Amino acid sequence: DGEVYKYYSDGEWKTSSSGKSVAIINPSTRKTQYKVQACTQEEVNKVMELAKSAQKSWAKTPLWKRAELLHKAAAILKDNKTPIAESLVKEIAKPAKDSVTEVVRSGDLISYCAEEGVRILGEGKFLLSDSFPGNERTKYCLTSKIPLGVVLAIPPFNYPVNLAVSKIAPALIAGNSLVLKPPTQGAVSCLHMVHCFHLAGFPKGLISCITGKGSEIGDFLTMHPAVNCISFTGGDTGISISKKAGMIPLQMELGGKDACIVLEDADLDLVASNIIKGGFSYSGQRCTAVKVVLVMESVADELVEKVKAKVAKLTVGPPEENCDITAVVSESSANFIEGLVMDAKDKGATFCQEYKREGNLIWPLLLDNVRPDMRIAWEEPFGPVLPVLRINSVEEGINHCNASNFGLQGCVFTKDINKAILISDAMETGTVQINSAPARGPDHFPFQGLKDSGIGSQGVTNSINLMTKVKTTVINLP
Ligand code: G3P
Repeated sequence: DGEVYKYYSDGEWKTSSSGKSVAIINPSTRKTQYKVQACTQEEVNKVMELAKSAQKSWAKTPLWKRAELLHKAAAILKDNKTPIAESLVKEIAKPAKDSVTEVVRSGDLISYCAEEGVRILGEGKFLLSDSFPGNERTKYCLTSKIPLGVVLAIPPFNYPVNLAVSKIAPALIAGNSLVLKPPTQGAVSCLHMVHCFHLAGFPKGLISCITGKGSEIGDFLTMHPAVNCISFTGGDTGISISKKAGMIPLQMELGGKDACIVLEDADLDLVASNIIKGGFSYSGQRCTAVKVVLVMESVADELVEKVKAKVAKLTVGPPEENCDITAVVSESSANFIEGLVMDAKDKGATFCQEYKREGNLIWPLLLDNVRPDMRIAWEEPFGPVLPVLRINSVEEGINHCNASNFGLQGCVFTKDINKAILISDAMETGTVQINSAPARGPDHFPFQGLKDSGIGSQGVTNSINLMTKVKTTVINLP
């Protein structure tokens, strides 16, 4: 109907002076679902200026009051889970139930963050000088944590609400202001979520949400001199942001090629259900999805049969109907996935199901006998396609995992806990899950990638710490 969603600046909903909009394509229908403002660089300058001044008084607002407002926003967000989830279904084709879960999880994250912030920011340290050689007991050092200033949050399409609040809540509880640049697919869900913060009554200018084209405002935002911290989740763009950013703390969660190493003694039913959950939930569009199965040859046939049987039960279709497999986010993503599938076909992978695609909808596909010369052995499809590589030793599995340029998570299945721990230690990833699929949550657990998977650590506590600086005052006694 031509309506363009407004952006959020200075505590108000505004229309961009550009007169232009960005279309959000529904992945299932491939038609324009929504439109958002294409903001200009001047509008970015304005939100940065407001963010800078609002932060000064926010930092002086008592911690318990900041927490109170966050609890309020969390409750409003949960009350509005239905309309927000509906826009997630339309914008990113996330199954309806999972969309609701995302919003509820986000409310819980905000509340947890408020509580954790009150605890960890409410405490400081007191040091005495005479513990260091050569000193008398004449210096008392008081430490506390202070905010950084303006935090720029850039979440990805796959969790536009949850990965936005996982940046917003720690930034705000720590006394920072926040500028949010939502992903295009997911922008409307983000705007609805920001409206919940608006209704909670945060000061004007403290939170802004600026929408638009990456080509117009992307670099301008990330290189803006007013920005004191960037928290980004997404793909390769994160690497170029890191190269261009100034001397500011960065929190980056980028891609992953999470390996699932299966030993001979593993409970294969448990492995199969975790491969389904890990590899195919939200059609594989998770950084923490299982992206390669490395299974010992002796149990490979049995495992592949079990997974095949479960793949056959996955429902494929509209997110509104809660299908397990829904359209991937865009046509270019579907084309990329298809490219990986065709490469594997040309090089002789075994197709456990027939390859099928309609528009952006790709049927779940398990590829057996994948070899290291195939692209899919290394690249991240971000779709419902999972390669199985057969290995003859655990070392071969560990070596494959470690040869990847990614290092987000991984998992190992075995009943031998001692072996599992040694394998975990040997895997160069930020987290290893023993006997379960990789996952970021629960959201207070540390979450980090090694190598090209990112820098900094997330999880509620680590995010609060990353978005603060240590300040000390030393009392010198005569
Ligand atoms: O892909 C984003 C990443 O943060 C995954 O989160 O909860 O699906 O493990 P989760």
